[in-house]
Amino acid sequence: MQAETAPLTFDIKPSANCLPEQDRLKAFENLGFGTLFSDHMAVIRWSADKGWHAAEVTARAPFPIDPASSVMHYAQEIFEGMKAYRTADGRAVLFRPEENARRFNESARRMAMPELPEALFLEAVEQLVRADAKWIPAAEGSSLYLRPFMFASETFLGVRPSKEYIFCVIASPVGPYFKGGAKPVSIWVSQDYTRAASGGTGAAKCGGNYAASLVAQAEAYAKGCDQVVFLDAAEHKWVEELGGMNVFFVMADGSIVTPPLGGTILPGITRKSLIALAREEGITVDEKPYSFDEWKADAASGRLKEAFACGTAAVVAAIGTVKYPQGEFQIGGGETGPVTTRLRDALVGIQRGQTDDAHGWLKVLEGV
Ligand code: PLP
Ligand code: COI
Repeated sequence: MQAETAPLTFDIKPSANCLPEQDRLKAFENLGFGTLFSDHMAVIRWSADKGWHAAEVTARAPFPIDPASSVMHYAQEIFEGMKAYRTADGRAVLFRPEENARRFNESARRMAMPELPEALFLEAVEQLVRADAKWIPAAEGSSLYLRPFMFASETFLGVRPSKEYIFCVIASPVGPYFKGGAKPVSIWVSQDYTRAASGGTGAAKCGGNYAASLVAQAEAYAKGCDQVVFLDAAEHKWVEELGGMNVFFVMADGSIVTPPLGGTILPGITRKSLIALAREEGITVDEKPYSFDEWKADAASGRLKEAFACGTAAVVAAIGTVKYPQGEFQIGGGETGPVTTRLRDALVGIQRGQTDDAHGWLKVLEGV
């Protein structure tokens, strides 16, 4: 579907009910992930006859949803995940936001939804961060997680793309994604469930992918693990990705392996950034299939030194333990290894404005 490109002006309607400062600062003392929300939201509507219209930043509030809204029945919904950081020198920055804007439209195309002009996506995010600037926590390891999303809102039960959509951005101040903080995570290898098949929606960031992953993630929790890792749907052999993160393997020869993008995994922006940073350090990064059998054998032989998961929410998390129905094994003695630490520090250093942003990955929000 074609995007409507007429310029839009955001109607800024400040909330009359902002959380009192002392309550916000109290909440900042113990940030988890995704339970606390800022005062505002950005909203833009789309209809087949008007295109994109009614852009606003307004008090965060529930949407009235008709029970026949198509998202409720056919799950036409996509989202993004990105973060605003407060740097040590007081700037408010976004990390590679144009990558999220581009991926959002790739997801929209796959789900037969209208594309949102990238400039409009970026402006909605920026306007929300401006309205909620005081919600960007400054403490190390914390940030303002931004969740742009779009859903089908037409009241209609036929199975076809909706003719109305709501795009929205909400914001949530966050600390570590995992309860254990920076400790290495444990991973459950799903045997019964797969996440995406060739021709499916694996490369799109659509809610349905996550709905389908929840039973496997619940199994991982039941086995005492933090995350599930999926194998490919065709052969149940090749490592794909975790429920909400991409995965990397660090070999004894110093090279790094990560599963290739082929339509079944999410093209992670953290993944892409880490590949670039590693290659600049002279590390060979192979985007190639890696099987669970190789993973087991390499962990046993010592050929595999480290493994880590990465994503916007989780940043970079070492994988310490891998469990599967017949057993379990450790990687790097269950500790975070030096390559994982170095790459994590390089990425976080850029994101938090501590090291030179040689790639121009930061978008500085002037005056925020
Ligand atoms: N894979 C999945 C399934 C995800 O949900 C995410 C998180 O967004 C990622 C990978 C990592 O992507 P990114 O680094 O762009 O956050
Ligand atoms: C993100 O990292 O932004 C995601 O969307 C993944 C999810 C596990 C929170």
